[in-house]
Order: sequence, then structure tokens, then C-alpha cells
Amino acid sequence: MALHHGDTDDRRLTVNPLIGDADPLGAMRLSPPVHRLADTPIPPDTAYQLIHDELMLDGNAKLNLATFVTTSMEVQAEKLMGECLDKNMIDKDEYPQTAELERRCVAILADLWHAPDPDNAVGCSTTGSSEACMLAGLALKRRWMRRNADRYAAGARPNLVMGVNVQVCWEKFCTFWEVEARTAPMEGERFHLDAEHAVALCDEDTIGVVGILGSTFDGSYEPVAEICAALDAFQERTGIDVPVHVDGASGGMVAPFLDPELLWDFRLPRVSSINTSGHKYGLVYPGVGWALWRDKESLPEELVFRVNYLGGEMPTFALNFSRPGAEVVAQYYTFLRLGRDGFRAVQQASRDVAEYLAQEIEKLGSFRLITRGDELPVFAFTTAPGMSFDVFDVSRRLRERGWQVPAYTFPEGRTDLSVLRVVCRNGFSRDLADLLLADLTRLLPELNRQPVPLKDLGVPVRTGFHH
Ligand SMILES: Cc1ncc(COP(=O)(O)O)c(C=O)c1O
Repeated sequence: MALHHGDTDDRRLTVNPLIGDADPLGAMRLSPPVHRLADTPIPPDTAYQLIHDELMLDGNAKLNLATFVTTSMEVQAEKLMGECLDKNMIDKDEYPQTAELERRCVAILADLWHAPDPDNAVGCSTTGSSEACMLAGLALKRRWMRRNADRYAAGARPNLVMGVNVQVCWEKFCTFWEVEARTAPMEGERFHLDAEHAVALCDEDTIGVVGILGSTFDGSYEPVAEICAALDAFQERTGIDVPVHVDGASGGMVAPFLDPELLWDFRLPRVSSINTSGHKYGLVYPGVGWALWRDKESLPEELVFRVNYLGGEMPTFALNFSRPGAEVVAQYYTFLRLGRDGFRAVQQASRDVAEYLAQEIEKLGSFRLITRGDELPVFAFTTAPGMSFDVFDVSRRLRERGWQVPAYTFPEGRTDLSVLRVVCRNGFSRDLADLLLADLTRLLPELNRQPVPLKDLGVPVRTGFHH
């Protein structure tokens, strides 16, 4: 990685006399190198203070409306995590109770997502949705290879069908595991995959279709039930059976509580696997994710490794080996602590704030809503026609007050459209939303005085797309 401006290989940290140990002057003689290991140790308090001060430059998480990832947990959860910092998730023999909590979380999710037999559900924790998607994609590929052994041997190339709005982890999956990514572009006011376009891309080499609940770009839910129904009809017509994976990175923890009637999960027989991020609306600090399969047949046995470890035999399906156990414990804490009603209340509060803020922004008259925050508690909006400023100008000016509201351009099919996105998470209160509105309202006269968007004057745009 490149050095920062002003940095040289031999840059050294300077130690203020009062953050040193007992002897202030002695401490001043310390100047550990920044980019090299020092020859000698320094006192722990000094090391702490030097790093602590530097980290103050990181943003204020409460004002970060860009990320989906949890930025506050209860002190009791933090205490448990502190107690589990040294636990290695893979070492199930040494930490059988942590492994038991993982199994309980899998059963809870299987029940929440209506798996046919939740107590025997197949699933695992991961470092996040990306790893979970890799595992689910691998299972789809392996199942296709089994069904099409001759075609595969003869050189057929598997493909995966999805909307162009998929999160980058699916592009990674296709690149890493040599699967053709078949993406349906956006079109007009359709910003995600629909049934018609999904089926049009499928053929006998399709390992699966990915449905997203909901889209990272604008928070909208993809019509998973319609996609499944269209694939049923496709199977009747062609005999080709295409399974569906639901990427519920965010929605997997929202829809079960706020949209219980919505059919998107294992109630649909075609849905073979689902992932979610425990560290998004699962309300846990990063990084924990979950991957579940509807039954044993959906996860090819040969992908599960049985590791003989410290005297026990342990099945594992993961890309990593060692991984912290604390986040899994924290996930179990959120399940135990909140229950269904608690989760519903937390997610409803986020959705209420999202819908309120979207409506108020619409009322300002200078913006057009792309989504309204009524699916994921997330919405995207753009500038109204005829405005002399653009979304990048708004993002930049909000940043002056500490708000992080990313602005970015939509992908293939709508690269003409740039939006701002607000992710409302637990902890982003209505009071904070009102403060954001007040800042936006105050900025509008200044923005309106701009003759043209700053990018037209050659000012580089700062584009952010955070997950
Ligand atoms: C739909 C979707 N899938 C996958 C991911 C990747 O999740 P993670 O950050 O947990 O790896 C994200 C992250 O935003 C997402 O929104």
C-alpha cells in the first residue's frame, strides 16, 4: 500500500512528555518508527495513547448513514464479547459451549426463515455475508456439476443469474470460482431483478438465480416469490430446474419481523439457501454472517470437511479456519435479549425514521425519491430536474457537518442516474434525523446559488458506496 502524503519510510512518532511513563523526559526520547518495527518496546500506556489519538480521525459512527453495519451494542453484549475475545470459533472441541450457541443461532434463523425442519437445519456462521454468499454459490455450482457431469466434462461453463445491482461479493464469487456472471441491467424505473429478466437469462448451465432482499443500491426488495413462480413455469416448459439463493444480507433480519406475510424464504420450495449479515440488521458488531440451506440435499456433502481436531471430529464448511467466537456469542445475545417483539420494535423504529426522513426530504422540493424506506429502512434519492447542483455536491456539503451520506452512480442501464443513499440503523434516532434535515435545509440556499454542479467545473467527485 502507498504511503500517505508527507510520509516517508523513516517517519517517526513523537511522544508528548505527559503521555509517557513515570519519567516524562525519558518518554520524550521515544520515537518509534511508523512503518518499521522498533528495536525496543515502549510502555503499554504510551502505545495505547499514541494509537488512540490517531484513531480520533476516524468518522463518528452515529453520523455515518453510509454503512449497513452495526455501530452500537449494549454494554452487556460488549462485556460478553470481551469475555470471548480469546475464543477461536473453529476450536469447537475446546469451546463446545460457543459451538452450541452457534448451533442455536442456526436453529433460530432456520425457524425464522421457515425451514422445513429447523432443528435439523444445515447452516453455519461466517465472517459476514460475503463469505456466506461464496459458500452458497459453491454449493449451487457443485450441485449443477453433479447434475451435469457429462456437459461439464465436455466444457460447458456454468452461469449464475442476477441483477446488475448485486453486491460486489457476487462478482467476486463468479471470478474466484469461474462462473459466468449473467446480470440483468437496470432499465427505466426498474432498479433490480424481476421475474421476466431472470428467466430470460436462464439456460441448462444456470447454477442458480440470486434474489436480493434488499438491494444495496436503494434498499428495495427483489420479487423473490415472482422469480420463483416464473422459474416453476420455466421448468414446466423446459424441464430445467433452477434453484434460487436469497441474499438477505440486510433483509433476512428485517422482513421476518416487519413483513411476515411477504413470501421470500424457505416457504418457497425453490429457495435452496439464504444468507444474512449478523453484523447488519442482526445488530451485532462486525464480523458475523450466516449461511443456511433448506435441507441436507441442498448442501453437497463433499463440501463439508470433517476435521479431526483436539480429539473431536468436527464438520466445517468455511473459507477461513480460525475465526473469533465473540461475534457469534453476541448474536446469540441479541436473539435471547430481544426475542421476536424486541427485534420487531428495533427494526420498526429504524423503518419509521427512514420513512419519515424520506418524506421530509421529498417535501423540500429539491429532490426526487428513488425509494421511500418502506422495505429495508434505507432510501435513495436524487436531485429534482432543473437543479443547479448534483448529489455529489450535497454529499460533500453534508460532510462538512460530519454527516456521511454517500453519493454514487447507478450501474449498467442507468449510469445516467446518480443518487444519495441513507441507511437508517438502530441508534439513528428521529432526533438525529431532524438534525440532518435542518442541516440539509440550511444548505439548500447555498447549493442553489451554485451556477452548475462542481464536477462541471473540474472539481473531482467524491463517490462513496459503503456497505
Ligand atoms: C445485498 C448484500 N449482499 C452482500 C453484502 C456483503 O456483506 P458483508 O459486508 O457482510 O460481507 C452486502 C453488504 O452490504 C449486501 O448489501
